[in-house]
Amino acid sequence: MMTNKELIEKIQKLKKEKNAVILVHNYITSDIYEIADYIGDSLDLSRKSAATDADIIVFCGVDFMAECAKILSPDRTVLHPKRESSCPMAAMVKADDLREKKRQHPNAKVVCYVNTTASVKAESDICCTSANAIEVVNSVKEKEILFVPDRNLCAYAQSKTDKKLIPWNGYCYVHDVITVKDIKKSKESHPGAHVMVHPECRPDVIAMADAVCSTGQMIDYAKTSNVSEFIVATEEGMCARLKREFPDKNFHAIGSICNQMKEISMYDVYMALKMNQFEIKLDEEIRKSAKKALDRMLELR
Ligand code: 13P
Ligand code: SF4
Repeated sequence: MMTNKELIEKIQKLKKEKNAVILVHNYITSDIYEIADYIGDSLDLSRKSAATDADIIVFCGVDFMAECAKILSPDRTVLHPKRESSCPMAAMVKADDLREKKRQHPNAKVVCYVNTTASVKAESDICCTSANAIEVVNSVKEKEILFVPDRNLCAYAQSKTDKKLIPWNGYCYVHDVITVKDIKKSKESHPGAHVMVHPECRPDVIAMADAVCSTGQMIDYAKTSNVSEFIVATEEGMCARLKREFPDKNFHAIGSICNQMKEISMYDVYMALKMNQFEIKLDEEIRKSAKKALDRMLELR
């Protein structure tokens, strides 16, 4: 059994030999941060995937994130170290069901959250992430928009736009369980703290936020805010990321744990690089259509 230190050395060596880049989502266990070339939110990581000149992208995140990298960089080998690491919310909308909904709303455009499969993106007009949902929705010329799959992100975007959003009944099991009571309790213990809330939370929880942020935007908010204590309503791992960036500030987690994000271990990353596993493969027609939805989003800014 190799120690973490030995694994890290082997990973660094393989990374160089194979001209690989390791992209890591903020929620991944914090030991993996040590071997990351870049740590970020879904939007940051999509941009990095599109711009890299590495031959191999090792994507430490859930499967839709690795798929995005392949959609945007088809000539690169994209490796997802753990096949089972899959976002349950992304499974809540299927391409067939979306096609049926589109037939019911022929005048609506489709905005899909990035937490979707490539097949669902291929059925969509434009993609969005938690960092740009409002901007994306407002960029659509048409009045009526089918918004899939997160009902909470949809409600949040609806509160900030004149468009008519038609929600889907998807949700994130990690964010949807956070309650107003949880926030109130934490505020009692930390009265001076600012509350950062991820937009996958319920509307009543979002209403208590000082800042509604994607995970990447939480880093910016903690950096620029004039307070040094924060209540963080999202997946618990985000606090490790924030603490790493700002060791002198205090972060109090509210959220629960995303089991799927915690499945990738250092050993899995080593095996991914050593064995070239598990390679993301997509149907080319689906990939091309899905890319249009992602490109439209990335062209916005
Ligand atoms: P971010 O893009 O804000 O990192 O969110 C991704 C995600 O899956 C949140 O649950
Ligand atoms: Fe999916 Fe929620 Fe986990 Fe994000 S936190 S990957 S939305 S289950």
